[in-house]
Amino acid sequence: MNNTFAKDIIDGLTAKNKHLSSKYFYDDNGSRIFQEIMKMPEYYLTDSEFEILSLQAQQIVEALNFDQPFNIIELGAGDGFKTFKLLEYLVDKAIDFNYIPIDISKEAINILTKKLKERLPKLSIQPKVGDYFKILHETSKTDTPSLLLFLGGNIGNYPEDDALNLLQLFNNNMNTNDKLLIGMDLKKNPITIHNAYYDISGITKRFNLNLLIRINREFDADFKIDDFDFYCHYNPVNGAVKSYIVSLKAQEVHIKKLNTVISFEQNELIWTELSKKYALTEIEALSKQAGFNVKNHFLDCKHYFTDSLWEKLA
Ligand code: AVI
Repeated sequence: MNNTFAKDIIDGLTAKNKHLSSKYFYDDNGSRIFQEIMKMPEYYLTDSEFEILSLQAQQIVEALNFDQPFNIIELGAGDGFKTFKLLEYLVDKAIDFNYIPIDISKEAINILTKKLKERLPKLSIQPKVGDYFKILHETSKTDTPSLLLFLGGNIGNYPEDDALNLLQLFNNNMNTNDKLLIGMDLKKNPITIHNAYYDISGITKRFNLNLLIRINREFDADFKIDDFDFYCHYNPVNGAVKSYIVSLKAQEVHIKKLNTVISFEQNELIWTELSKKYALTEIEALSKQAGFNVKNHFLDCKHYFTDSLWEKLA
């Protein structure tokens, strides 16, 4: 049994305001549903970032200003689709670099490596499975400068304090000349954001309810999925999309492997996810707090998303 997950379920579902972390969305089925989300026309994040890395690869590489061979270390590489265009540009220009994709999923890393070896045979790739920080700590001990990639808007899923801690940890494991290219979703017309998360086809609802299916399977629980719904809300003032699972009736759920019964009132919520949207000025303030300086913001043509290049302050 997964002990951290077990503890988080008990803590989250016995709290006054129930919550479960979106980091548990990504079992095999959840990862497949996320792939479907990324293909939805309303989910603009993926296309926006793809556009940035396709059309501005040259500007990004110039802004790195590395005068020797370097590493590109991708944190949470997944299937690597976004990064492909940047890697392709570098390989085409015969620029000397080494690509180090890191992911906790061995399967994802194997698929990515196979795909890249087929499509970019000249790419130097050193895939790694495991903990970001252990691997970063190793690479920071060498003289080779590194570009860290943290793409996709993943930072937006961390509560404010956790996001800052994570960025400070990145900073602590970087050398002075290293850089971080970080994907962040921008504040925009609230309706565009609302539609990306409250999609009419119900894929994001399935993504959230899959968490209950996962708990049923892994902890022998009896959540009746039809007795729960999904709600999400965008607050354009603070930039937070918050997602919830809603109990449609008063009910009890038995989680057998945890020897626990959870009571729900009708319309009671489980908060599942934060997807934070930023203003450029907020990104600059956050970077300073974490010990960085923003060198460039690379935006897509609609100004929906930024891949911002941060340099570590000396
Ligand atoms: C992975 N992450 C950046 C996604 C997001 O947009 O917050 C997860 C997601 N949740 C609902 N739709 C997509």
